[in-house]
Amino acid sequence: MTHRPRLLRRVLRRLGRRTPTNPVPADMFGFERSEREARSARKLEKLYHQGQRRVWNGKDVLSELLDKHGGVQLPAEQAEAVRALFAVILWGELAAWRISAALAEELEPLEAKMAATAQVHDEARHFYVMNDYLKELGDTPMELGPATQRVLNGTLEADTLVKKLLGMQLMIEPLALTLFHLVRRMQLEPVLAELLVYYEQDEARHVALGVLHLPEMLSGMGRREAADLHAWQIREYFAQFAMMRELEPHFRALGIHPRQVISLGRQKQMLAMQMLIDELGMDLPIVEVFRRVTDFRAEIDFPLDGAPTDLPSRLRAGLTAALHSAEAEGVLSEVA
Ligand SMILES: [Fe+2]
Ligand SMILES: [Fe+2]
Repeated sequence: MTHRPRLLRRVLRRLGRRTPTNPVPADMFGFERSEREARSARKLEKLYHQGQRRVWNGKDVLSELLDKHGGVQLPAEQAEAVRALFAVILWGELAAWRISAALAEELEPLEAKMAATAQVHDEARHFYVMNDYLKELGDTPMELGPATQRVLNGTLEADTLVKKLLGMQLMIEPLALTLFHLVRRMQLEPVLAELLVYYEQDEARHVALGVLHLPEMLSGMGRREAADLHAWQIREYFAQFAMMRELEPHFRALGIHPRQVISLGRQKQMLAMQMLIDELGMDLPIVEVFRRVTDFRAEIDFPLDGAPTDLPSRLRAGLTAALHSAEAEGVLSEVA
C-alpha cells in the first residue's frame, strides 16, 4: 500500500520539484508492505551486512597478486589495449561511486538505503584499486572516447532516480561483468584475472540492489513516466553500440571479436532484466524490444567473420535475427 508522503514525493518529483528535507523521515519505517516488498527489504538489508563481511583490502590484495605473479607482464600492444579498456572500468567505477552515493542519499526505505551505502564503500575500493593497477601499465588514463563518455553520462546525468538505478545496476554493471568475464577467460594477465574475481563478487550484490528495489519504484509509475523510462532505455542501448564501435580496436588487439562482447553482454543484461521480471511478477515488454534491437544492430554493425558485408545483406541478416531473436541466442552464444 502506498503511504501518503511517498505519493506526495512522487507527484512533486514528477513536477520537477524537491520535497523539503525532513531530518526525521517519518516514512522510513511507517508504511505497510506487501509480502513481496517485505521479502525484498529483508534481502536488501542482508546485502549491507554481506558487503561488510566481504570487504577486502584493496592495497593488500593487489600487492599480494603483484608479488605472486612477479608484476604485470604484457606485450606492449596488449598492455595498451588493456589500459584503454580498463580506463572505461576506472571511470565507470567513479560513475558507480557517484550514483550509489546519490542512491544512498535519496532512497527512502531503510533497507535499500543501507544496501546503497554498502555499494558506495565497494565502488570507492574498486576505483582506487583499478587506478593502482592501471598505474602498473603506465599513467592513470585521463581520457575516454566521446561515445563511451556518452554511455556513462546517460546514466550519471539521468533525470530520475529510477533511471540511475536501472542504468547503473542493470545496464552498465552487466557490461562491466562482460569485460571481466572475457578477460578472465582469455587468461591475458594473471594479476588482473585474479583481481577481477574480487570485483565480480561485489558487483553481484550491486545488481541485486537494482533487482530488489526497482520493483517498488516501477510499481508506482504512471503510463507517461513508464514510456519516458523505456524510451530512455532504448536510447541507452543504442548508445552502447557506438561505444562498442569506439572500443572495437582494443578488443581486436586482445583477440576478442566484437560479437563475443555483444553476445555475452546481451546475455548478462537479459539475465539481470529477467531477474527483475521474476521479482516484479509481471512481464516487461521492453526486454523483448531490447533483445530484437540488439540482434538487429549486431548484424548491421558487426557482421560475423566470413558473412557478406554489403548493406542489403547486413539488413537482411539483421531483420532475420530480429524476427527470430530467441532462436538466435544459440548462434550468438557460439561466438562467445
Ligand atoms: Fe564497481
Ligand atoms: Fe558496482
